[in-house]
Amino acid sequence: MNLILLGPPGAGKGTQAKLLSEAHRIPQLSTGDMLRAAVKAGSAIGKQAKAVMESGGLVSDEIVIGIIADRVSQADCINGFILDGFPRTLGQAAALDKLLGTKKKDLSAVVAMSVQDEELVKRIAGRYTCATCGSGYHDDMQKPRKAGVCDKCAGTTFTRRPDDNAETVRARLMVYYRETAPLIGYYFAKGKLSTVDGMAPIGDVTKAIEAILARFSTGIKAK
Ligand code: AP5
Repeated sequence: MNLILLGPPGAGKGTQAKLLSEAHRIPQLSTGDMLRAAVKAGSAIGKQAKAVMESGGLVSDEIVIGIIADRVSQADCINGFILDGFPRTLGQAAALDKLLGTKKKDLSAVVAMSVQDEELVKRIAGRYTCATCGSGYHDDMQKPRKAGVCDKCAGTTFTRRPDDNAETVRARLMVYYRETAPLIGYYFAKGKLSTVDGMAPIGDVTKAIEAILARFSTGIKAK
């Protein structure tokens, strides 16, 4: 199964990719996570990506296509993968088609997740994670049971992504509508697109995506 989760920042791509990755035992390929790891490691790619990411812009197609081409070639992708945050431009989508073609693979489905803009800003601007175990929290929507202490590992240090603030989220949304939203039409034209309501509770969104995957695996096209 080769799945693309498509949606604006904060739509829940990462949340759903993680759950589906565990359920289907195929890797989650998040270009955002890979780029953040490169920034943290101070690699050449990380140095190029840092300022662009902090401003809410897109890292160059050349860099992210290279990263995905390497990653998809690794052994754990043999039975499929879930793309989270890639492709993000028509150029990246065309490069992915080419890459899959050379590997004689096909896309199983593209799931677009729709969420209202104000909800996206609210979700992202309040988001933070435990620095020790990575558990996710939110200033209003998901506070730890004891203030300042991680529910899962009892860690007391938390981090926020440098691009997770109301101003940068709005810039990321503009970039989404300009560069990434056209992919909805691109995959619709290919007969691969399905849409889920990303405003629904997390478990309901997962069920909706699983239903789409089941339809594709039995050869019935999505609606
Ligand atoms: P990336 O890391 O991909 O960030 P993003 O697309 O902005 O996505 P997010 O991680 O912010 O949101 P998400 O949709 O995964 O939502 P999540 O599940 O976390 O990219 C970061 C940057 O890297 C880009 O801006 C760009 O610079 C660069 N980059 C990455 N890929 C690139 C590419 N291909 N090309 C060029 N540049 C690239 O959920 C968000 C919050 O909402 C969480 O708190 C979660 O708990 C909550 N939530 C999730 N689902 C629900 C729900 N159903 N109900 C209520 N709350 C929910």
